[in-house]
Amino acid sequence: MRLKSPAEPVGVLFVCLGNICRSPMAEALFQTMVRERDLEAYLFCDSAGTGDYHIGSLPHPGTLEALRTAGITTTHRARQLSTNDFTLFQYILVMDRENLRDTLAVANGPAVVKLVMEYSAQHADCDVPDPYFDGRFNTVFEMVSDACRGFLNEFERNLVPTEFANR
Ligand code: 4NP
Repeated sequence: MRLKSPAEPVGVLFVCLGNICRSPMAEALFQTMVRERDLEAYLFCDSAGTGDYHIGSLPHPGTLEALRTAGITTTHRARQLSTNDFTLFQYILVMDRENLRDTLAVANGPAVVKLVMEYSAQHADCDVPDPYFDGRFNTVFEMVSDACRGFLNEFERNLVPTEFANR
């Protein structure tokens, strides 16, 4: 089925603390799912950190390994969340409540800021644990995959089939 494009592609920004573990994993997973669902004309994504500790760094080896096991690669370099992001992206999906508080503290635009796990069917309304401290990269992979699927299922449900779009 052909789907009518939104007037503008919708931007999704994933945010964690350091932008080397959770959010670049979510970004790479989401981008892969967007490609698999043939939604590249409708969605773009990026990731950022609330902190500035790792600006310019590649993702953590644990993130790269979890992605590699699923056949996914990324060239993302860590960057810090910027005030521009609140107008460039419609959705800012954060990994935990600390990120939520820190992101809302600098929010200055119309972006919807939410916990990413609100989109998960299995783990709704919880924090994604930080694997930088506990090494649970595979757990993060499973949780974030489920949330990305949930977001994309909802996004696709809200797209209007072309044959009905102009009636
Ligand atoms: P992330 O994990 O927020 O998922 O990228 C972290 C990475 C680095 C640090 C903390 C969390 N750090 O304290 O340097």
